[in-house]
Amino acid sequence: MAGSFFLTTAIDYTNSAPHIGHAYEKVLADVIARYRRLRGESVYFLTGVDQHGQKVQQSADREGIAPAEFVRNVTQQFLSLWTKLGISYDGWAATTEPQHKLCVQKILQRLFDEGQLYKATQGGHYSVRQEQFLTDKDRGPDGEFGAEWGQVEYREEENYYFRLAEHKEWLLALIGAREDLIQPAFRRAELRNAVEKLSGDLCISRPRSRLEWGIELPFDANFVTYVWFDALVNYISFAPGGYDPTSANAEFHNWWPATIVIGKDILIPAHGIYWMIMLHAIGFTDAQMPTLVVHGWWNFGGAKMSKSLGNVVDPARLAQEYGVEALRYYLMSDIATGKDAEFTTERLIARYNADLANSLGNLLNRALNMAHRYRDGTVRRAGGDSPLRARAEAMVEAVDREMLAFQPQAALAAVSEFVTACNAYIDMTAPWTIAKESERAETLDHILYALIESLRLIALIVSPVLPTAAREMLFQLNWRDELTRSALAWGGIGDQHTVGKPTPVFPRIESEAA
Ligand code: ME8
Ligand code: MG
Repeated sequence: MAGSFFLTTAIDYTNSAPHIGHAYEKVLADVIARYRRLRGESVYFLTGVDQHGQKVQQSADREGIAPAEFVRNVTQQFLSLWTKLGISYDGWAATTEPQHKLCVQKILQRLFDEGQLYKATQGGHYSVRQEQFLTDKDRGPDGEFGAEWGQVEYREEENYYFRLAEHKEWLLALIGAREDLIQPAFRRAELRNAVEKLSGDLCISRPRSRLEWGIELPFDANFVTYVWFDALVNYISFAPGGYDPTSANAEFHNWWPATIVIGKDILIPAHGIYWMIMLHAIGFTDAQMPTLVVHGWWNFGGAKMSKSLGNVVDPARLAQEYGVEALRYYLMSDIATGKDAEFTTERLIARYNADLANSLGNLLNRALNMAHRYRDGTVRRAGGDSPLRARAEAMVEAVDREMLAFQPQAALAAVSEFVTACNAYIDMTAPWTIAKESERAETLDHILYALIESLRLIALIVSPVLPTAAREMLFQLNWRDELTRSALAWGGIGDQHTVGKPTPVFPRIESEAA
């Protein structure tokens, strides 16, 4: 299948309610997926929820309900948020589904049969919150385990281990050879450093005696699978075609390898080390390794956002209060993929009012009003190229480059610049003066056409970020053709095209503070 693009994201942990970090990642992936569809690619967009693990079991116990019921509730919150935010996913990965469990078990069995898993006893300090054994490296300057680890206790137990360290040289070579492995590229060095320090193997089981809520090891019913080993497999168990380690599948290989969108906190070790080595160990070639798109964090008041810090911002509430388009626009325009940013509602309002209500909303309103006032709404395609044409084409090109580099922020900056240029073009040409001079009728036609055509291109190109607003803009422009790649070429508005009446697409947000 030519041009097929398999995009997936981290699956959200169902121990707690969705927060703005989750919304950001899903909108980012959605925008990339929508943009790829716009340029004519076949896209499969997978996202979902990570439903097993110790924290879920503990939270369920605290509430006195079964883990299955607990995750059903939280999963429902994610599902309704994605509907609300217009996340256009094609597949839903929920790790308690039988299809996923079976895939995890087949992979475990295969690794076990091939000697990649072994049983051993380990004793040490264990962080309940992080679900991992700690080492002296994890101690603070005072010699104690810091508050970030939560409750720490000494434990000794038998478990199954995956031979990670054995694949260290292979992974280093892969990182050296595959330039596109991690985007943005500056994170590659970080991963290389971490792999160079890799020494131990990965504990992939938890004794049933302390964790019931997981996938049973197919070769030892006294254990369940470590939640990360389980969760990572979602990218292949829910892939189109569905991966099966025991049989070849052509459809799966049409789509694989995936592009996986994750936050910087789960690059090392989970995705950059565990996942790459898991795939390698089950027979994926170097060319079949996924691409990792690693985004940064939204911070709140300078603090890393976490539930325990009590500064969670509820995305559903923000969407309710300021509108889905305002939230999507802010999340895509005010952070560069890979970098961190500070989340404030003041900034959300400011960006929306400046870029959308004032700049773009104003342009749409002015252009449609002038078309009605001077030409009864019907624009003529008058001869000669508009100065806006070259700028529009440069904008479309910049957007394409930035979107393919997973940088919607830079793409939107290019759109904003073009909108500003269009408004300046109106001020400079002063159509209201030309309208008074009958011998300059063609010049006025020329200007009006260029503005309407520019607005059509703007609406199309922002549609991945602002799907609802773009549809409304196109409706007012009375452009009903299909959203395809060729629609992004200058000249889509025909001669004698009649536009609709303007109604505000981006009403100003009047903030309490302003
Ligand atoms: O890590 N800003 O789940 P999760 C930006 N279940 N992104 C953020 C963020 C923030 N403040 N907070 C979280 C997990 N994220 C695992 C993943 S994948 C096989 C299993 C991002 O719910 C985070 O980086 O803690 C991650 O990519 C995603 O949200 C889910 O985080
Ligand atoms: Mg997390």
